[in-house]
Amino acid sequence: MPLPTMNPLRPSLAVAMLALLTALPAAAQYRNADAAIKYRQSAMSLQNNHLGRIFAMVNGQAPFDAKVMNENIEIVSLLNSRVQFAAFIEGSDKGNTRAKPEIWAEKDKFSAAVAKSQDDVNKLVAAGKTGNLDQIKAAAGAVGQSCKACHDAYQKPQ
Ligand code: HEC
Repeated sequence: MPLPTMNPLRPSLAVAMLALLTALPAAAQYRNADAAIKYRQSAMSLQNNHLGRIFAMVNGQAPFDAKVMNENIEIVSLLNSRVQFAAFIEGSDKGNTRAKPEIWAEKDKFSAAVAKSQDDVNKLVAAGKTGNLDQIKAAAGAVGQSCKACHDAYQKPQ
């Protein structure tokens, strides 16, 4: 009786699919502009929720628990990622969105705002690891400011 072997097609198929996925332009990862808009609004809204929990702890409205703090920071860091900002696909300036057309008109400036925000979030990750509440408070404040700076420039008022 031959020993059961792994299907030799599997690994190569997975590799081929991965290559296909990475080759797809960002736009192709969404059914349409509406789906991209919903995706980024959901991610923004979630990161807002978790940043809120961080602020509650640094402002003394919730007890400081380093583990919970770092869990929240980790989630903000995951959400404030390339994946979220890749959802600002071409043609998604119209519809149920508050994204300003300047996002696409001045892509370099928008990318700089993304980079600044991610840089500040990375510093918050580092501060979280120290467990020092003052450092976390300062870093969280900077994150809040870079969120706001981007909104002031690129989010239409409600
Ligand atoms: C580089 C720019 C940029 C950065 C950085 C940024 N945002 Fe946003 N955010 C936007 C834009 C643009 C929209 C509007 C998206 C839309 O309506 O399609 C938005 C929307 C939102 C919304 C509304 C979501 C909804 O339900 O419609 C919230 C809440 C939000 N952002 C929170 C945050 C928080 C918190 C941070 C920082 C941790 C952050 N954002 C960082 C650009 C940014």
